[in-house]
Amino acid sequence: MLVLGLESSCDDCSAAVVEETASGPILRSLVRESQDAIHGPFGGVVPELAAREHLLQVRATMAGALAQAGLGLQDLDRIAVTRGPGLVGSLLATFSAAKAMAWHQGLPWVGVHHLLGHLNAARFGAPDLPFPALVLLVSGGHTHLYLAQNWTSLQLLQKTRDDAAGEAFDKTARMLNLGYPGGPLVDACARSAARRAEPFTPPKFRDGRASWSFSGLKTGVKLRVERNPRLAQAGAADPEVQGLCRSLQEAISAWLLKPVAALASEHGARSLIISGGVACNSTLREDAALLAQRLGLRLALPEPRLCTDNGAMIGAAGALLPVETDPWGQNADSDLKLGG
Ligand code: KG4
Ligand code: ZN
Repeated sequence: MLVLGLESSCDDCSAAVVEETASGPILRSLVRESQDAIHGPFGGVVPELAAREHLLQVRATMAGALAQAGLGLQDLDRIAVTRGPGLVGSLLATFSAAKAMAWHQGLPWVGVHHLLGHLNAARFGAPDLPFPALVLLVSGGHTHLYLAQNWTSLQLLQKTRDDAAGEAFDKTARMLNLGYPGGPLVDACARSAARRAEPFTPPKFRDGRASWSFSGLKTGVKLRVERNPRLAQAGAADPEVQGLCRSLQEAISAWLLKPVAALASEHGARSLIISGGVACNSTLREDAALLAQRLGLRLALPEPRLCTDNGAMIGAAGALLPVETDPWGQNADSDLKLGG
């Protein structure tokens, strides 16, 4: 089955052709148009600008994915498109395009929950993964841990009490004037560090559980910059900035992985899946590999271009979902719930 997967829930406009086979999905093409240059000066995504840019990008992105795969619309068996959650103006760009193309071509189409997409990004490298699996989804908007019994269901186990982990990376990069988006820049800076800065104190919760909170990190970085204003201008080549990034990155990775051992044993998990933009982080990838080995879990970490938002993950998820007999009343939903 050949699926065109479309994603535009935030600031990336992406399309991919995925071939679903008996032994799992094969990536036939992947195109992504970044809007980093547009949002960079604002230090974060500006929803109205993102929506307008998606409208300009969507046709070329879809055409690019089909051309890269050497296919035309008539060769497709299905279109899969992100339905939500996300920025509604952004979602509407590919959602409306998908509906229009499906109508014109008489093609089946499915709306996909964005997080089922991130889950299915792991299917490209690990189609035979044993379930149940713990699924850590970490991005700019999500820091959630789920239990999955298969590739199309997610049951929430815990989530951050405040900020997402990606936000801590992005805000830190902003305070250190490293650029946008922050995650990859903090990561590169941390990799260059010869020494780490003073470690960040992990949050403590009254119930003693390994819960998550990342807003304290923001304040922690802010206080260090206030104490030493030079850090804000020193740049990525500065050893103190590098040390700070390394300590931050090690703290985030350790905190994210802390609940895994207890929850894996409680739920009899056989695998650990990590996906979402922050799953690109080099320290998190290394720490997760060691942890999974120690716990005897199969680890599925999608390649970095499939961890960040992309059309391939939506195509892979959409290939497994049932096509509704009359999907035409369906619309993009910025607050779409899982199972909704
Ligand atoms: O999944 P994604 O592309 O979009 C959302 O749904 O949010 O994730 C984007 C997030 C951003 O916060 C970005 O800074 C972070 O993923 N990110 C990283 C790395 N690459 C991207 N964070 C840490 N280390 C990285 N290498
Ligand atoms: Zn995402």
